[in-house]
Amino acid sequence: MAQSIRDDDGVSNPSRNLSLTDVVERAVAARPSRRRLLLGGLGAATLPFLAGLAACGGNDDDEPAAAVPAEQMMAFAAVPASSADTVVVPAGYVASAFLPWGEPINALAPAWKPDASNTAIEQEQQIGDNHDGMAFFGFDAAGNGFGERSDEGLLVLNHEYINPEYFYNPGSDPDAWLAPFTYEKARKGQAGHGISIVHVKRAADGSWEHVKASPYNRRIHGNTPITIQGPAAGHDLMKTAADPAGTEVLGTLNNCGNGRTPWGTYLTCEENFNGYFGWNGEHTATALENRYGITASGFGYLWHTVDARFDVNATPNEPNRHGWIVEADPFNPGGKAVKRTALGRFKHENAELVVAPNGKIVVYMGCDERNEYIYKFVSAGTFDAANPTSAANRNLLADGTLYAARLDPGATAGDHMGSGVWLPLVFGQDGLTEANGFTSQADVLIRARQAADRVGATMMDRPEWVAANPKKAGEVYVTLTNNSRRGGTSANNADGSTAAGSARPPVDEANPRANNVWGHILRWNETGGDGTALSFDWDIFVLAGQPSVTDARKPSANITLDNLFNSPDGLAFDSFGRMWIQTDGSFANSGDFAGNGNNQMLVADPQNKAIRRFLVGPSGCEVTGITWTPDRKTMFINIQHPGEVGSHPNRPKNGDGSTYSDNQIARDATAFSQWPSAGARPRSATVVVRRSDGGVVGT
Ligand code: FEO
Ligand code: CA
Ligand code: CA
Repeated sequence: MAQSIRDDDGVSNPSRNLSLTDVVERAVAARPSRRRLLLGGLGAATLPFLAGLAACGGNDDDEPAAAVPAEQMMAFAAVPASSADTVVVPAGYVASAFLPWGEPINALAPAWKPDASNTAIEQEQQIGDNHDGMAFFGFDAAGNGFGERSDEGLLVLNHEYINPEYFYNPGSDPDAWLAPFTYEKARKGQAGHGISIVHVKRAADGSWEHVKASPYNRRIHGNTPITIQGPAAGHDLMKTAADPAGTEVLGTLNNCGNGRTPWGTYLTCEENFNGYFGWNGEHTATALENRYGITASGFGYLWHTVDARFDVNATPNEPNRHGWIVEADPFNPGGKAVKRTALGRFKHENAELVVAPNGKIVVYMGCDERNEYIYKFVSAGTFDAANPTSAANRNLLADGTLYAARLDPGATAGDHMGSGVWLPLVFGQDGLTEANGFTSQADVLIRARQAADRVGATMMDRPEWVAANPKKAGEVYVTLTNNSRRGGTSANNADGSTAAGSARPPVDEANPRANNVWGHILRWNETGGDGTALSFDWDIFVLAGQPSVTDARKPSANITLDNLFNSPDGLAFDSFGRMWIQTDGSFANSGDFAGNGNNQMLVADPQNKAIRRFLVGPSGCEVTGITWTPDRKTMFINIQHPGEVGSHPNRPKNGDGSTYSDNQIARDATAFSQWPSAGARPRSATVVVRRSDGGVVGT
């Protein structure tokens, strides 16, 4: 691969940083007491723009003089690949499981039952399943609001889906552990989704406890009432018999990646919502249903067989009420979460927020399906840095413009670099007209995939997490996890008639490999370092793969035998500028994936492109979700679905060599993985990662 011209130091363009600094310095001048909050607390870990300033704040009078060596990008020993049923971290680090599926959410909630026999009502009071995106919100000094403390705060985490083979106590039919499937089982499944808000506190030894007797502990799950807000609220496509106004929906589902706002709220992102829907009896899918992947049986959850809300014959508009970004205030236990329809409806991975130089909020988002698109939202209003939690700030996601990305090959063919433009998805513009079937801005947002088809956005190799570099304004990265449908001749039709995931586009510069089984990471630089710009340049940061492959599918030069991985998915920067890569791919450890081991987490240096493995997860898991305390002495990550059998080398087998079925796993739930508790069925859980000497993680 050709060397990128963007390997220069991010601070080499001071004009950008000065203009950004000015925004905060003006705010600090107005209210000096806000300095520490603005520079230290507002997402020191996850808010790229302000976090970058925090690292530059060494001249702050109230900070002790630095007495520690300069922080290095990768001063840890790489860990080897592993197929073991344990979490592996570098020497000098401690990793402890925390908040596993089923843990009581508060002091009054019922205990988890190791045979998975808890009821739906009980699950609504317990930590959900399949932990995913996550954010830590430190308390303020008074301990009753959003602030900068690293020793106590609220940990908010997503629960993406459930693994029925582990989630339900098996029934008596020897051939069908889920039979009979009941409304109670559907309700329990719905209760396993959503988010958990958990009051957490650090002990003197660096370990963390769940403060169970706290009013902040709560669940938002698949049946919690949520407000529908924004241009699509009240549209006919959003109305149901139970909600004739189209303004309130029950639940949030398939909560994948996340976002975190500078006003102290959490964003949970609805991804594969289509999988919960189906139909009973006869039904011919509409173009809208086809484009979003609504099928007769969905992903096999069976909810539609017992709960009319998920039967599109009974409740045809219910799918339209899912697939949104949902905003929740963890510090307001009595508050309702809000679906922010201005950010568009698609299969959301995460939501990366940046404050642009002009104060507008930019939210970068990927739509995770083969040959789908990258989007960004730019707020209509501007962020008031002097009053971070003001009512006006808290409504910034209510109104703005949604764009989809087109990536062009640039001046030189074959160099894995190019240019791009942001295409507005605005009713009446660029063919989003009544002549082409669009009726309003609400319609454009509900059918955002079809709007992006119409304007000619670029089909990507499954856009997963997006992450902005806090050390280089306007530089943004996206994981493109893999794409088995790259290398054909078909495209998403401009009229929006293509069924979800069915196109097979040819390779292009931004997605250069047919049958891309390993995935890659691409980055772009917004023109002028400005997130509101309508053009950008892009290049490929890494092509994962096997160095032994030397043909057109070869990996980039920063892949070595020591850092093999596949299917990059989770992606986030810490405030120092390290890029953390998490994987959700094949753990077969053979063939194309030999030497990869279990799913893992790596650190990348955005400047020299070096990549080093930091952590390996247990058998059958993916590693996803990442957040830090403001002091970065604690990192929280999630281990999702340990024990998924797949093609793991240690999977349980029958005498004839066949792999255990789900029915067998359901009846022998400890046969494969027992992470995190020996002797018990595997459970998704958070992992607290810290240095045994109490130092900053990653250094
Ligand atoms: Fe929920 Fe695309 O991962
Ligand atoms: Ca090019
Ligand atoms: Ca993911």
